[in-house]
Amino acid sequence: MTAETAIPRIKDEILAVYGMKANKAYGLHNINQLQHALQAAALAEAKGLPSSMVIACLLHDVGHMVHSLGEAPAEVGVDDRHEELGANWVQQHFGQAVSEPIRLHVQAKRYLCSVDPVYEASLARDSVISLALQGGPLSLNEQEEFLRTPFAQEAISLRQIDETAKDPTAITPTLEDILDRHLTAALAKG
Ligand SMILES: [Fe+2]
Ligand SMILES: [Fe+2]
Repeated sequence: MTAETAIPRIKDEILAVYGMKANKAYGLHNINQLQHALQAAALAEAKGLPSSMVIACLLHDVGHMVHSLGEAPAEVGVDDRHEELGANWVQQHFGQAVSEPIRLHVQAKRYLCSVDPVYEASLARDSVISLALQGGPLSLNEQEEFLRTPFAQEAISLRQIDETAKDPTAITPTLEDILDRHLTAALAKG
């Protein structure tokens, strides 16, 4: 497949997933998955992060939309492993600069909670519920291992953005705007 045909195909695929599934509620917040995704991408843009990170922020929770475990499995005690599902979905199209921060964003939350009590105290209620299911804060050995993992710093940035992308009053660009601005550059980088 040439680059000219790959870009419209992945764009259509993302538009289809978010068009069909992103009206699912986002955790316990008064926003849906699409709004959460767009806010995260817009926050990454505002921080001047590279296109790979803007697209990683946009797609970080796509794993919640590519399973059939219901709207909010964490609230019924199920960890949907959305970070792995999402990274594997993203990996079909993008390089590691997009897929790995997504794969590590739950581990980054566990890391941040283990080193920063202020961050842990700031977590929204749904993040607290899912944290327990995801294994809770990391031990010292696990923290060191996490920091040695490639893309750990990008995952930490993504997770910090994630926690602030839950504002029901935020005005964001559209999904097409974000894709038109960043898709080509995000696909070009490994
Ligand atoms: Fe997530
Ligand atoms: Fe999220």
